Amino acid sequence: MAIPKSKTLVAFCTSAALLVMLAGFALPRSASRSVDSQQTAEQGKLVFEKYGCFVCHGNEGSGGVRNKNAATGGFVNALTYTSRAFKDADLKERIIRGPTPVKKADPHGSTPPLSMPYFRGAIPDAELNDLVAYLRSLTPEEGEEPKPVSKERPPVPDFMLGDNNCEICHSVVTEHFKTNPHYGADATRKGTSEVIVCSTCHGSGKIHAASYGDPQAIIQFSKE
Ligand code: HEC
Ligand code: HEC
Ligand code: HEC
Repeated sequence: MAIPKSKTLVAFCTSAALLVMLAGFALPRSASRSVDSQQTAEQGKLVFEKYGCFVCHGNEGSGGVRNKNAATGGFVNALTYTSRAFKDADLKERIIRGPTPVKKADPHGSTPPLSMPYFRGAIPDAELNDLVAYLRSLTPEEGEEPKPVSKERPPVPDFMLGDNNCEICHSVVTEHFKTNPHYGADATRKGTSEVIVCSTCHGSGKIHAASYGDPQAIIQFSKE
């Protein structure tokens, strides 16, 4: 008899505590929204660096990173004005949606090397909210100029630096590679689970990645 009683008491206390907490959090937040969004934008800048967004979108999303044969002028798109085109929820979804095939400038030319990584499940919702606030803070008001951007690049985050981590930055190229008949064929023939990996032909990607994709730091092949 005593057990159900105390359970009810605990349940009551928990929900009462929850109500107090909710009320406590809700009030100061709505009272100081602009300070909050400035804070989350500052947090968002750190999140932007933590996930290496600048490696492709440039410092503070200002663009300028080469993406050979991309229809967007041969560069990865800047993010300065992106927030104008999206509601918060859509922008969050756009960040975690994964790569979309980048349109080619020359339809017969090679696949643009850079595309969005797979971030779904990797970036917690709180960080996504901070990222959205940050992207909004980059967008100037109508008639104003974008803010000046610092020239010094933050270090490439550790999770991008592996011998064979190519997929993080080259997601679409990697997807195409996996549909190549050679991929895995060798392993099937030899009866192992070993498949050909990118570094078999291109060499380790560690230095290439750490140097923001320096083309000199990876083995390349010309069409000839
Ligand atoms: C941290 C992100 C990053 C990682 C990880 C990475 N790359 Fe790159 N890669 C780049 C960037 C950025 C460029 C574009 C550089 C440029 O054109 O100035 C590039 C360009 C290339 C190019 C030249 C493409 C061309 O057509 O000019 C090749 C080849 C390449 N990467 C292969 C690899 C391979 C193989 C791996 C893994 C072993 C790898 N990359 C890992 C960022 C990365
Ligand atoms: C490896 C390079 C790379 C990295 C890293 C990267 N992006 Fe992208 N991003 C792209 C490319 C290329 C596109 C355009 C095509 C596509 O969807 O793949 C794009 C598209 C976008 C778009 C849509 C823009 C529009 O106008 O539709 C947003 C928003 C975006 N990225 C935000 C981010 C954020 C935030 C991060 C970090 C969490 C990030 N990206 C990391 C390469 C990258
Ligand atoms: C069997 C050797 C081999 C393997 C394995 C390999 N590549 Fe390549 N890669 C090449 C050759 C050869 C070219 C040049 C193709 C050309 O110029 O037509 C190339 C070109 C590229 C390019 C330049 C863009 C393009 O399409 O021309 C990128 C980026 C690239 N490879 C990334 C990768 C990644 C990422 C992987 C792993 C998923 C990988 N490669 C695995 C041999 C290989």
